[in-house]
Amino acid sequence: MSDTTNKIIQRYNRLAPYFDALEVVIEGFIFSRWRKRLWAKAQGEHILEVGVGTGKNFRFYPKDARITAIDFSPGMLARAQHKRAHKQLNVHLDLMDVERLYYADNSFDTVVASFVFCSVPLPRKGLRELFRVCKPGGQVILLEHVLSSRPLLAWLMRLFNPVVVKLFGANIDRETLKNVQACGFSQVLVDSYSGDILKLIQAIK
Ligand SMILES: C[S@@+](CC[C@H](N)C(=O)[O-])C[C@H]1O[C@@H](n2cnc3c(N)ncnc32)[C@H](O)[C@@H]1O
Repeated sequence: MSDTTNKIIQRYNRLAPYFDALEVVIEGFIFSRWRKRLWAKAQGEHILEVGVGTGKNFRFYPKDARITAIDFSPGMLARAQHKRAHKQLNVHLDLMDVERLYYADNSFDTVVASFVFCSVPLPRKGLRELFRVCKPGGQVILLEHVLSSRPLLAWLMRLFNPVVVKLFGANIDRETLKNVQACGFSQVLVDSYSGDILKLIQAIK
């Protein structure tokens, strides 16, 4: 495991006890609406969620799907395990790095990630893994904040990125749409309600 990966894991382990509380306002006003929109697009019998975190997407999981979810932070995963028990949810949780998934090629109908590729150390490596484990004709759906297309704002985001990474382990200068487009999907769509920074991306294999 690289030093960078280890550092990010440690940051999320430290953040885990406060994570839900830290995001409670933005979750209520913005994120939960987008999560609902994301999960409305999920299809198929077997779904993988990567970077499950504390399990904030649990309440949006489709009732009839078989769901597997992974995270590389034991602290975050422990929170998700606790929530799973509390909600009596049938989701399989694994401690795993998205850059090295243990699953076979073409395993999942839909692969989902929300606010994950801002902190994956090697995002294209992780995205290529999502492509690999997704079935042909299946889809990868991502809800992510990305670098602004406005030059001044993009400059500021790049300037403050090191501070944000240090505090939260998340990058605010990621070009996730470009990264997805570079990973071989047959079609990459951006939800029309997406803004300049918050994007809901649907990539078809
Ligand atoms: C900002 S949190 C988002 C959590 C959750 N998806 C949500 O929407 O609330 C990012 C999560 O991605 C996980 N993560 C980041 N890089 C990862 C990687 N390479 N492999 C697995 N999990 C990763 C972190 O441990 C953390 O739990």
